[in-house]
Amino acid sequence: MGERKGLILIGAPGSGKGTQAKRLKDQFGLAHISTGDLLRAAVAAGSELGRKAKGYMDEGGLVPDSLVIDLLRLALDGPEAAAGFILDGFPRTLPQAEALDAAVAIDKVIDIQVPFSLIEERITGRRMSPSGHVYHVKYSPPKVEGVCDVTGEALYQRSDDTAEKVRSRLSKFEQETRPVIARYQSKGIVVAVDGVGEPDEVYARILAVL
Ligand code: AP5
Repeated sequence: MGERKGLILIGAPGSGKGTQAKRLKDQFGLAHISTGDLLRAAVAAGSELGRKAKGYMDEGGLVPDSLVIDLLRLALDGPEAAAGFILDGFPRTLPQAEALDAAVAIDKVIDIQVPFSLIEERITGRRMSPSGHVYHVKYSPPKVEGVCDVTGEALYQRSDDTAEKVRSRLSKFEQETRPVIARYQSKGIVVAVDGVGEPDEVYARILAVL
């Protein structure tokens, strides 16, 4: 695998994976590959993949492994990922982890830990711009309510960002993704990072373990 850097950010929904992956991308020039972002783009584009994925996503369930693994393979083969990549939201199941390990080397898995009691507020308060900028009504509000600071677009709320859907997403995390963390722990490449505190503090903790 040579010099290609491979990082995984893993953690419950709303633990801050996307927030931290953007910082790592900007600082180290690695590709930020979020299967959630790729799937949302497919849904917005109305592609065949998007039509297949939408129902699972809206219900807070997981999209079938075969669809997500194909999507990931394409992203890993893209030119942006040549120097290295940060995976955000993948792998989420053991079959996904097995497919990944057969394809590329992973250097480190950063397990961002946030108590479930804090997750609901983070997720229900999240607002997004169509270009992918992420805000929080309390923790990182835009300058003008409902408007993206960067693009001026109207902010929206994800259809799966409701209290009810958060519960099914957390239970999927417990059932399907905990075993993925255990798999990488047995390989000795997982580092746990406390995800509570200001995003900059969490980022400093990540830099300290890289
Ligand atoms: P995906 O988009 O991956 O959702 P997720 O894992 O549920 O993660 P989130 O995007 O909700 O949270 P995050 O950890 O990135 O947190 P963020 O930084 O935004 O997946 C969506 C769906 O797609 C899945 O449910 C599934 O259906 C499908 N899918 C995707 N990948 C799949 C796969 N591999 N297999 C099968 N299906 C798949 O932060 C959250 C909020 O908190 C933001 O408002 C942010 O501003 C705020 N915040 C961040 N950090 C802090 C902090 N330190 N303090 C206070 N607030 C903070």
